[in-house]
Amino acid sequence: MGGSRTNISTGPAGRPWRFDLALDGGASVPRQTQLSRAIVQEIQRGRLLPGATLPGSRTLAAQLKVNRKVVVAAVGELVAQGWLEALPARGTRVALNLPTLAVADAEGRRSVGAAPAQRRAAVIAVSDGVPDARIAPVDQLARAQRRALRALTRTGLGYGDAAGDPVLRDVLAGFVNHARGLSCSSEEVVLTRGSQGALSLFALAMLEPGEVVAVEHPGYAPAWRAFRLARAEVVHVPVDAEGLRTDELEAHAKRLKGRLKAVYVTPHHQYPTTVAMSAERRMHLRRICETYHLYIVEDDYDYEYHFEGAPLLPLSATKDLSSRCVYIASLSKLIAPALRLGYIIADKSVVARLSSVRELLDRQGDVVLERAVAELIEDGEVQRHARRARQLYRERRDHLLEQLASRPPLCAALACDPPGGGLALWLRLRGVTSEELARRAHARDLTLTPGSAHVADGSLPAFRFGFAAHTTEELSAICDTLEACLKPDAGAKRR
Ligand SMILES: Cc1ncc(COP(=O)(O)O)c(C=O)c1O
Repeated sequence: MGGSRTNISTGPAGRPWRFDLALDGGASVPRQTQLSRAIVQEIQRGRLLPGATLPGSRTLAAQLKVNRKVVVAAVGELVAQGWLEALPARGTRVALNLPTLAVADAEGRRSVGAAPAQRRAAVIAVSDGVPDARIAPVDQLARAQRRALRALTRTGLGYGDAAGDPVLRDVLAGFVNHARGLSCSSEEVVLTRGSQGALSLFALAMLEPGEVVAVEHPGYAPAWRAFRLARAEVVHVPVDAEGLRTDELEAHAKRLKGRLKAVYVTPHHQYPTTVAMSAERRMHLRRICETYHLYIVEDDYDYEYHFEGAPLLPLSATKDLSSRCVYIASLSKLIAPALRLGYIIADKSVVARLSSVRELLDRQGDVVLERAVAELIEDGEVQRHARRARQLYRERRDHLLEQLASRPPLCAALACDPPGGGLALWLRLRGVTSEELARRAHARDLTLTPGSAHVADGSLPAFRFGFAAHTTEELSAICDTLEACLKPDAGAKRR
């Protein structure tokens, strides 16, 4: 198809809106994507204002000379992303609250050079793997919170259990027993402020100054900082294509003679490399933990997101080892990080120590939120959301992989082993450091976290590319920028 052009007399605030759009049927980008991108651009430029009604799909299809399915698919995607709102029997309008792009950083630090005062509205942040909060079931959650507040007010809204709302603990125990093969009771569950709260709580309750925790390297640096908060030491154990090098862990256990207290692992998708720990390594790790009396702190931060077949069960699903397992999970990746709701599943004696520290730090959590989330899990809402999100994120992962494979400058500079799940790719760099790439990207309004964030010192020629929070259009746009950053003369173009 050649280009087609259309004028539409329905516009923002009643003014005529001229939609000058030429859809190119011969282009590599599907027409649906061209259309949704063009609508987003109209909104971003302010030509289509929040609240403006769009023409019906038949009208738009006729004027653009495309099949109505193309319009319906483009509009549907934009509704899912939060750019448009479908109003029953009244058509589609531009959302009143437009989505924003996440600005996040694995280290909890600002991404390279992105001081808030200098940050421009159009800066896009490549996260280390956050979910898309635009698709979270927030209306259902808000309604459940209202009901929870009313119900709890009847019972006094007073001080509660330091381990967290007993109803949610019970529901979570059922949830992980059913979906993840654990066999715990509600007395073995403690609620926390996300996984980070869980890691700090474990550190403060279970570690003595001078004791040592073995951690994966490269790894999740905020966990290392949590262990050091309790004046424990951290020993780095390398990671390869099968996950933690358990032979190296055993060597540390022998050398440290009883000072090694725990090993912190992310076996489902190793952070940051995304590799799954092999069955052999899992078995070896279990043997080491039994022999040397180590706790396994298993951070299962994104269990729901497996795209290829069924995931391996958590290490903590091993019954004969369960007293040594401290299983950490959270709703940050499942729903949204801002909920700050995580949990630890551990032996009752560990739970007692965790609860007494939690009582001092926090007294209790947000019982209204906890009760509301219990309702959403019991009603299957969280599980339905997980299914929808899994499907969407798989499409986004595939789109990103396709973009990376089809652009020669990206193929030449970036290598990746496609992960079977999770919310990020681990991209290894050739010919440029991750710091240099981050600098070039920042000059083009894109922030990314260089590999140095995941190592004890020095740098690493790799970075995490979180794909879940970005639509396919946004992922293509990010790839455009990366391509520009990787051109031979790109280093010279600095602002
Ligand atoms: C490996 C890992 N653990 C823990 C967390 C912290 O998650 P939360 O938001 O639940 O504190 C993250 C967040 O990115 C993570 O990647």
